Amino acid sequence: MSRKYCEDITQTDIGNKVQVAGWVNNRRDHGGLIFIDLRDKGEVVQLVCDPTDDELSWKTADTVRDEYVLVATGVVRYRGEGLENPKLKTGKIEIVVDSLTIENRSKPMPFDINDPKVNDEIKLKNRFLELRSTKMANIFKLRHKVSLTARNTLDKLGFIDIDTPILTKSTPEGARDYLVPSRVHGGEFYALPQSPQLFKQLLMVSGFDRYYQIAKCFRDEDLRADRQPEFTQIDVEMSFCSQDDVIAVAQRLIVDIFDAVDINIEDNFPQITYVEAMEKYGSDKPDVRFDMSMVDVADIFANSSNEIFSSIAKDTKANRIKALRCPGGDNIFSKRQMKGFEDYVRKFGASGLGYFQLKEDGLKGPLTKFFEPDDLDNIVKATQLQVGDVVFFGAGEKKLVWDYMGRLRLHLAELMDIIPSDIYKFLWVVDFPMFETDDGKTKALHHPFTMPKNLDDFDHIEDIQSFAYDIVLNGVELGGGSIRIHKKDIQDKVFELMNIDKDEADDKFGFLLHALEYGAPPHGGFAMGLDRLIMLLTGSTSIRDVIAFPKTQKAQCLLTSAPSPIDKGLLDDLSLRLKPKV
Ligand code: AMO
Repeated sequence: MSRKYCEDITQTDIGNKVQVAGWVNNRRDHGGLIFIDLRDKGEVVQLVCDPTDDELSWKTADTVRDEYVLVATGVVRYRGEGLENPKLKTGKIEIVVDSLTIENRSKPMPFDINDPKVNDEIKLKNRFLELRSTKMANIFKLRHKVSLTARNTLDKLGFIDIDTPILTKSTPEGARDYLVPSRVHGGEFYALPQSPQLFKQLLMVSGFDRYYQIAKCFRDEDLRADRQPEFTQIDVEMSFCSQDDVIAVAQRLIVDIFDAVDINIEDNFPQITYVEAMEKYGSDKPDVRFDMSMVDVADIFANSSNEIFSSIAKDTKANRIKALRCPGGDNIFSKRQMKGFEDYVRKFGASGLGYFQLKEDGLKGPLTKFFEPDDLDNIVKATQLQVGDVVFFGAGEKKLVWDYMGRLRLHLAELMDIIPSDIYKFLWVVDFPMFETDDGKTKALHHPFTMPKNLDDFDHIEDIQSFAYDIVLNGVELGGGSIRIHKKDIQDKVFELMNIDKDEADDKFGFLLHALEYGAPPHGGFAMGLDRLIMLLTGSTSIRDVIAFPKTQKAQCLLTSAPSPIDKGLLDDLSLRLKPKV
């Protein structure tokens, strides 16, 4: 008799003898009859042990405890009217046991694997137990389906899977590297790849034309709910392509993946430019599941008798005055909450937050005294204010205002509970700036191998745009990519603008620059965060839930206790000496 998985036992098996194997999910003694919910890879089936049918099995059942490992055989029968369990896939049937073997025992569980409220530390220390739960099993089945679909789609589109090195040289994705000391070359280090970026470009120079990889990436950066030190990308590169060609491949991949998990989505995602995203939503990964966009009111504030506003409004290149309409806000938020919003934006560098309320008898609020009646009317018109609405204003340096008003937009929407959780809103953000300046240093916004758009025609370095694009889903940056520089003279110019001299460029990326001199084809690609995608598909709140063995916020693996100290002998082998702890 062949063994069956719980999920495969259905009403068509009624009357048949089957064998099942798995773990005791729970055991109930109903005065004579013993019921065991047996669980295998996420599904559960009910076993019934009746002393009048088979005394030996019943006696064995009497000794089993949670998480014991059992093999059971018996005949499948209908549970009976009123005894069905609609929560279970196998809820209509049960197995009347005629043979029961305990394959292994388990110590009492350190926590209830089905209880979502258990403290994270205990769960992560015993992650192999948490992974036994139906919830976790379903997440990893879905993750498998997504990876498989990605492979199938990319294969159909002519992409081939090629591994790239893990022990390598630093890649420029903007985070700190994880380093591995070399024993053979004392004092020298490999870096773990932040992405396969440079190798996939080299593969294009090699003529592979279409590459993909489900690649592990390593970045030593501050962790958040959607960041882990070690994560997985669906990584793609192609030759002789335009930005639209790459976007079409990414879209096809996403549509096929959603189709595989039975979610219907539109297959033509809207595109907005980086500047539009920042001006309207204050974010380069806007959540467009709800409206609430910002409008510019600097021209109206320029007339204000408040000197701070009017002087900020004068420099429209460097500054912004943004209005954010909050529909119905006047009826929702108390005075205390309104004050709280100011404290909220101050955390992100704002020097204050103005607001007006539109009442039946006109605009109210502490700022009205600084405006003529006509200008107050213009504010109502510009922001399309309705009675009962509140409108918030942020004024100051452009990037600062974008950032804190964008955060306020999300904060208000969350408080008003207007973000639908059951829809998927995709958006391409295109025309990213090539560079950003930080502390006077010019850095590449994506990476320095991104093809600039207007390298020979710009006033300010931050005005140079690039062929870079991000795919955003429900306010999360799901992936990004670009058309790459394939000509050495353009690459040299980009390094020059970044103040990277020839020696530094050769030292860091010499191998790529060298390759660009041997007939590099035009090429481009993208990478999508697999963990983030699974997080969104499963409604998880952190990518930790969708990685089998994740790290904590402090980048530790509580299961294995990594990172951990190493023996002095090993340090000597690696030519390393530790600094004494201070
Ligand atoms: P980028 O750095 O934008 O691009 O990364 C692509 C996607 O990878 C995911 N991601 C992460 N997921 C979890 N934890 C992290 N720490 C983390 N960092 C990034 C995100 C992100 O959108 N080489 C380029 C791609 C290219 O240009 O082809 C790259 O890595 O979902």
